[in-house]
Amino acid sequence: TKINSGEVTWQSPSNIALVKYWGKKENQIPANPSISFTLSNCHSTTTMKYQLKDNASNTGEFDFKFYFEGKEKEDFKPKIIKFFERIESYCPYLKDYSFEIHSENSFPHSSGIASSASGMSALALCVMSLEKEISKDLSEEYFNKKASFLARLGSGSASRSIEGPLVVWGEQNKIEGASDLFGEMYPYKIHDVFKSFQDTIMLVDKGEKQVSSTVGHNLMHGHPFAEQRFQQADDNLEKLIPILESGDLTEFIKIVESEALSLHAMMMSSQPYFILMKPNTLEIINKIWTFREKTKIPVCFTLDAGANVHILYPDNHKDKILEFINNELVVYCQNGHYICDQVGDGAKKL
Ligand code: PMV
Repeated sequence: TKINSGEVTWQSPSNIALVKYWGKKENQIPANPSISFTLSNCHSTTTMKYQLKDNASNTGEFDFKFYFEGKEKEDFKPKIIKFFERIESYCPYLKDYSFEIHSENSFPHSSGIASSASGMSALALCVMSLEKEISKDLSEEYFNKKASFLARLGSGSASRSIEGPLVVWGEQNKIEGASDLFGEMYPYKIHDVFKSFQDTIMLVDKGEKQVSSTVGHNLMHGHPFAEQRFQQADDNLEKLIPILESGDLTEFIKIVESEALSLHAMMMSSQPYFILMKPNTLEIINKIWTFREKTKIPVCFTLDAGANVHILYPDNHKDKILEFINNELVVYCQNGHYICDQVGDGAKKL
């Protein structure tokens, strides 16, 4: 059945990886498995209006307008065209419609927080809602898997934003069902402490990063430490399984911080090499270590492909940590800005 017109809105969150995805093969297949906390407050809201084209006006091209925070944005179009091209063979109905896409983020545009995970997953979910209108009975499982599959083709890490609180993407021997093609809810037992974990994001550098993640992933081809790194990520994910069950935060911290530093070590040892951390990134890391040593509060940091520091901790320590952040860390943030977020349960249809 062809649907004449309609509109759908999805709100989809960002995520923060514990074991990092860095390096990929053809077709957005990850070189190693990764796992992330789905976030809650950092999200994109995307509305997609669709209108069936009449035969006369159908030029056989993708037909859409894109608005970001209320304004038509031409410079975002190439990304969306590339996304549509990649998913077209899985969504053959795309060229039958003209679209108007409106997107906005809950976090400031220039915060250095990548919106590709939340934005691409929200768009993929909108496409799936249209598919559901067309084909009627899609199971929820199929819907979520295919949404994640399509999101992956937009941005790898976006495949981990559909569900929550913990999502695995990429084959791993010990994790049943884990797939290179889409993110899946982490299938084993999770200790309660992780179900309300906090992520306070220190905005060290709000500028556009100098090296895109696409370039970074590509530099893992021919990287002298690539194979060891992919193996390390695989091992770290396996080591996390009993830790996620027991809630052993000492061991959790060792893996999470090591993953963040290994990610940046890959950037520093690629050819060409680059550094995305800033002096304040290191100031914050050192302060966190001193604070942890002194208070024994199980707080740690992680980084994505940028200078901002994600501070991860159990929610029962929230007051103490926020006091520490306000007293000692805000001076290292641009304009004193940080964002309080926490683990969430995935995308929502509005
Ligand atoms: O989704 P991409 O291609 O922007 O890659 C993101 C990679 C990291 O954020 C650095 C790590 C990760 O697993 O999210």
